[in-house]
Amino acid sequence: MAKVSMLGCGGWGSAVAIMLARAGHDVKLWSFFPEEIEVLKRDREHKKLLPGIVFPENIELTDSLDCLDGCEFLVIAVPSVGMRKVCEKIRGLVGGDTIVVNISKGLEQGTLYRMSEVIKEVLSPKKFAVLCGPSHAEEVARSVPTACVVSSDDIEVAKTVQETFMNPHFRLYTSDDMAGAEYGAALKNVIALCAGICDGMGYGDNTKAALMTRGIAEMARLGVALGAKVETFSGLTGIGDLIVTCTSMHSRNRRAGILIGQGYSAKEAIEKVNMVVEGYTTAKAAYDLGKKADVELPITNAAYNVLYEGADPKVVIDDLMRRPKKHEVEELYLK
Ligand SMILES: NC(=O)c1ccc[n+]([C@@H]2O[C@H](COP(=O)([O-])OP(=O)(O)OC[C@H]3O[C@@H](n4cnc5c(N)ncnc54)[C@H](O)[C@@H]3O)[C@@H](O)[C@H]2O)c1
Repeated sequence: MAKVSMLGCGGWGSAVAIMLARAGHDVKLWSFFPEEIEVLKRDREHKKLLPGIVFPENIELTDSLDCLDGCEFLVIAVPSVGMRKVCEKIRGLVGGDTIVVNISKGLEQGTLYRMSEVIKEVLSPKKFAVLCGPSHAEEVARSVPTACVVSSDDIEVAKTVQETFMNPHFRLYTSDDMAGAEYGAALKNVIALCAGICDGMGYGDNTKAALMTRGIAEMARLGVALGAKVETFSGLTGIGDLIVTCTSMHSRNRRAGILIGQGYSAKEAIEKVNMVVEGYTTAKAAYDLGKKADVELPITNAAYNVLYEGADPKVVIDDLMRRPKKHEVEELYLK
């Protein structure tokens, strides 16, 4: 059984820790915030995000970075906004043989980096992989059958993570397209916010199906322009993650969108959700990336206008419907 240390004990970090501990691994769970660890130590449960699910005994909760000593896998589960800060805190402490696995999603503001690019810039890990796909923390923590993808530039590293982390409740596929997996994982949160807005406005299934389908085309167009493989967007980290995020009440991005569709401002909606809403910051980063890469992103730009410019969602959707006539698949041939 493996020694796994995890940074970030929010909903996702805790759920993955529970899943790995149930499979028999020795897990150490660390937080940037000692007070967060104190509460979890006291309760042996994440009462706010995963109520009723007890942490197995083989999860050690710690606020000491000694947990990095001798760990075989270092799993990072902090929101994109805290990623650089957390990586800087552990710079020089990660052993050369440790496999670093990022399970966070999002793009860094300003640099527009994927999380792997932030981690590589600060930590330069020798062995690195990204694990993502359609996976709500609430379901993984209940051992609901789930399938994800582990991607790495080094396929042997991806296979090692697959071999160690996969269990009868958690199926893992390997991939060598880290950029595709990360752009899919990050950009779908923007589309999920939009799906929530449509739900909040009382639009129906037709609208959501159109949004999701045109959304994945847009995600692929941007991803391919930035070096990803188009086929990755048809997989678990693309369409799979988009489906789960756009259709579920577990999605904070969709919940924030619903509130905006009901008339709340973006700021009010995020305050009400009271958790990290990655789609909000990713919308700005994706908007900037589209401009930088000169890629047409009508849905992302519409989301940006609603979230950051205070545009009326109804007007924005009307504008999307009135765009110039197009052939459905033309952009798939853009490289
Ligand atoms: N919740 C899910 O179901 C899920 C599933 C897959 C991926 N993710 C991704 O995993 C990442 C973490 O999500 P989460 O749901 O655990 O978030 P969360 O808000 O529940 O918790 C994040 C944890 O990160 C730490 N943190 C928060 N802000 C920080 C900051 N500014 N600096 C340093 N540390 C900070 C805290 O320890 C906090 O508990 C996100 O990128 C999210 O998109 C979440």
